[in-house]
Amino acid sequence: MTSSTEVKSSKKPADTRGLAGQTVGDTQICQVSQTELIYRGYEIADLAEHATFEEVAHVLLVGHKPTADELKRFKDELVSMRAVDRGILEVIGKIARSEPSSDDAHPMGILRTGISLLSHVDPDCEDNSPEAQMRKSKRLLAQIPTIIGYGQMSCEGKTPVDPDPNLDLAANLLWCMTGEKPSELNAKVMDVSLILYAEHDFNASTFAARVIASTEADMHSAVCGAIGALKGPLHGGANEKAMAMLKDIDAYIAAGNGDVDSFMAEAFAEKRKLMGFGHRVYKNGDHRAGILRSWGLKIAEQNGPDAKKWFDIGDRVQQIMFEQKNIYPNVDFPCGMTYFVMGIPVPQYTPIFVASRITGWCAHIMEQHQDNRLIRPLANYTGPALTKWNEARS
Ligand code: SDX
Repeated sequence: MTSSTEVKSSKKPADTRGLAGQTVGDTQICQVSQTELIYRGYEIADLAEHATFEEVAHVLLVGHKPTADELKRFKDELVSMRAVDRGILEVIGKIARSEPSSDDAHPMGILRTGISLLSHVDPDCEDNSPEAQMRKSKRLLAQIPTIIGYGQMSCEGKTPVDPDPNLDLAANLLWCMTGEKPSELNAKVMDVSLILYAEHDFNASTFAARVIASTEADMHSAVCGAIGALKGPLHGGANEKAMAMLKDIDAYIAAGNGDVDSFMAEAFAEKRKLMGFGHRVYKNGDHRAGILRSWGLKIAEQNGPDAKKWFDIGDRVQQIMFEQKNIYPNVDFPCGMTYFVMGIPVPQYTPIFVASRITGWCAHIMEQHQDNRLIRPLANYTGPALTKWNEARS
């Protein structure tokens, strides 16, 4: 009963399942808010416009903006670490060749296996000292593109290429995946997308990595767990699913079943989740989405009407979602269209997210280890009441 002075709230209590709205720890790495996304004091649009991915990786891992000398040393070191153990590449190639080269293949699983194998040849694997953690972070950052590329080329039945020491990380990633030197624009757009994907405070995969790190487990174990978390369609897997949805819409239109509007009306009637839309934190839009869309559109416009059509469909989907549901796209929505017009195979979209987010994950693993306490929250028990075993019916 409420007293006469108490005001009865008509508001539904906040749904805190999935730790929604709860702050569970401190970090110096990243600040996510409705108004800004900041990596160690630098705002995301500023970084996307003025920095390179290697500079951002230095900011996240080492902790500050590099001087010209520091950047050169950092980049040289990364280049020197790109080669991956031959035996590991052979396993990657074998698994990749046994997967169908279609959207059903799971390069995320291949990459997770690759990282797990890397742990066995990393001399610092079981060493959690800050120096060893930094060396492992750099090796992972340098070697993930090699693994992604080797898997993709093997899956397509092509001869994998060695990493190119003359290319920056983004361009080298495209080179390793295709065996072709990327255009300047494609390399730039990949670089920007890696900057945008690099870090996002306590998202599910980073939190998973921190939980694993908090047990004092090694960095590779934490990264394997993070990859598992990122693979899901509610998290990083959404960039692949967003493109799959656009392809479905295109096929629906081509079959004469209707247009984008009727596709969306059917999706709403069936209460389908639209991939690449919505966000746990951002309720007024994801700061990264517009930046990536504008870079992707440059490629689409350059490639002609067949490429531009994906942005036309996507823009209409976005408009309908906003007008009818007040839900905005997250970074994964423009990512799908952008990587598609760049010619990147859809199953590699989430592994590319890993190639970038490895910087954020490693920064968080190191931060967790710097001031560690086991992450072990409590649960609210809602199961059956206490019953004597011998008195219970089976
Ligand atoms: C990433 O956390 C991070 O920082 C992640 C990330 C990062 O950089 O690390 O930003 C990257 O993972 C982006 C998110 C990618 N996922 C998707 O695009 C999948 C589709 N989106 C959703 O399922 C959803 O929006 C989540 C999972 C992203 C967020 O889920 P929440 O916070 O639990 O929100 P919710 O599911 O409770 O939705 C609230 C309401 C619901 O409606 P009501 O029941 O209140 O009427 O919004 C609706 C939802 O049905 N809604 C959607 C929707 N997203 C939310 N309806 C249709 N399509 C959607 N995509």
